[in-house]
Parts: sequence; structure tokens; C-alpha cells
Amino acid sequence: MTQPLIDIQNLEIAFGGGQVRAVRGVSFSLGQEKLGIVGESGSGKSTVGRAIMKLLPPSAIVNAERMRFRDVDLLKANEKTMMTIRGRRIGLILQDPKYSLNPVMRIGEQIAETYRFHHPRASKSMTYGQALDMLEAVQIRDPERVARLYPHEISGGMGQRAMIAMMLIAEPEVLIADEPTSALDVTVRLEILALLDELVLRRNLGLIFISHDLNLIRNFCDRVLIMYAGRVVEVLEARDLDKARHPYTQGLLASLPTIEDPPARLPILKRDPAWLEEFALEPPR
Ligand SMILES: Nc1ncnc2c1ncn2[C@@H]1O[C@H](COP(=O)(O)OP(=O)(O)OP(=O)(O)O)[C@@H](O)[C@H]1O
Ligand SMILES: [Mg+2]
Repeated sequence: MTQPLIDIQNLEIAFGGGQVRAVRGVSFSLGQEKLGIVGESGSGKSTVGRAIMKLLPPSAIVNAERMRFRDVDLLKANEKTMMTIRGRRIGLILQDPKYSLNPVMRIGEQIAETYRFHHPRASKSMTYGQALDMLEAVQIRDPERVARLYPHEISGGMGQRAMIAMMLIAEPEVLIADEPTSALDVTVRLEILALLDELVLRRNLGLIFISHDLNLIRNFCDRVLIMYAGRVVEVLEARDLDKARHPYTQGLLASLPTIEDPPARLPILKRDPAWLEEFALEPPR
């Protein structure tokens, strides 16, 4: 097997001086694939994503046996090293592009500036040309017009495309997308997913796709990590989800609507210690 892009062994993350154990013994590796992370709100999905970028607040206590990105030991990497990785070798796409795009800068200039940051010797006209090319690559139809607009002048879907363009211009090896389509309506969501799909394939990226929507993850990703209460309870190929053995995954699957059957209600999980022990979970505090 080729060297994984990301390799995490036994990651533990706590907040509140160790009181809140947000991530408990998480292990996984990422290759050139679409890896989904699914789980209920508060299960630790975003915390894992931010830990890889070293974007957790200073109060977070992070321990792991191993946390590597390619040749980089993320546990030892200092801020200077992370500056060469964040947004450059690993891109982060969040739910709402409004918070990630600079509101007082035109779209084209922002993307060009990102390019210039990574290629300081490139000329001004060349960087702007690169920005337009990238807007075209994310299927924005009239890049020259859109490049002149400010973030508040474009739709959510267009903003997300602009965000993806800004991430891609740095030619990252890994993309972490945290609920990237949750704020979009269904048709735009499908377009953004198709775009991500194509980009992963064409640019040999590794994608970590975080969502609480199992149906979406199942249809979009190659492999799925199911998180519950800070732990990875199951890792499955997306096509094998029906073979899930953990009751949480089974409950999620049962709650998905199908054409034949109305959706079952997501069973209320018994959080009593015996049940959790049975499935190697710890009682929530
Ligand atoms: N900065 C922080 N300080 C204290 N606790 C935090 C902090 N960030 C996250 N947590 C806690 O860590 C746990 C995991 O949070 P996280 O945001 O990773 O969940 P999530 O799976 O991404 O949820 P959602 O689906 O709602 O985005 C939660 O209990 C949360 O309250
Ligand atoms: Mg989250």
C-alpha cells in the first residue's frame, strides 16, 4: 500500500482542562479517496478535522500515538511549519463561505491573493489570470463578471464554488470539507458534490467529508467513519453500510427514508453504562 496522506493513531482531544473528552482514541488513515465522517451533533467530527489543521483553541489537550500528514509529524509541527501546510497542502472548506471569504474584497482579488501568497514571484496579471482559470474550473460560467463581485453579491452556491476555487489554487493534497453543502438547497448541493467528486478524481486529492447526513455520505463517499460520543464506532466501505454491526449505525440506517417504507424514527439510544460497555463505549459525562 502506498503511504497514506493522513495517518492517525489513537487521537485523544479534551477541553475544559480534561473534563470534556471530545475525541477518544480515534484512529484512521486517508488515501486518495473520499472518506466520510458521519455522526450526531457533538460527536467530535469537526474537532478531528480542526486537529489535523492544528486549528483547535489553545485550551484543547491533544494526545495521540501518531498523527501524520505525509512526511510531517503533526504532533511536533510548530506554527511556522503549519503555515506552509494550512491552505496550501491541506485545504479546509466550511459550511458557510460567508465566514471564510473576506467581505470587503472582490472574489477575483481574493483568489489571486491566495495564489500570490503561494507564488510570491508571479506577476499581477498572471495571478489574476490564474484566479479566473480557477473560477472556470469550479464551473462558474462567467468568471470575469463574478471575479469583480463582492461575497455578499453572490449566492451561497456560488460562494461555495469560490471557496473551493480559493482552496484549489494552492494545489492541496488533502481537502477537509466540514458540512460544505449543509447550507445549500438540494440542486446546488448536488452540483457542488459533483464538482468535488471530479476534482478529487482529477487532482488525486484525499478528501475528508464531514456530515451528519448518512444518506449523502453513503452516496458520495468511498469509505465511511461512523463517530459516536467521540469515538469511531465503525469504519465501512460505503457500499457495505448495510453490513453495519454497531447499533448506532444500524439505527441511523433504519431512520433513512426509502421509497417503499416511511422512515423509522431514530431509536433513542440507551445511554446506560451496560449498553455502552457492550459496544466498548464509555458512558457520556
Ligand atoms: N473550543 C471548545 N471548547 C470546549 N468544548 C468544545 C470546543 N470545541 C468543541 N467542543 C466540544 O467537543 C465536542 C465535539 O464537538 P464537535 O464540534 O467536534 O462536534 P461535531 O461532531 O462537529 O458536531 P456538529 O455536527 O454539531 O458540528 C462537543 O461536546 C463540543 O461541545
Ligand atoms: Mg461540526
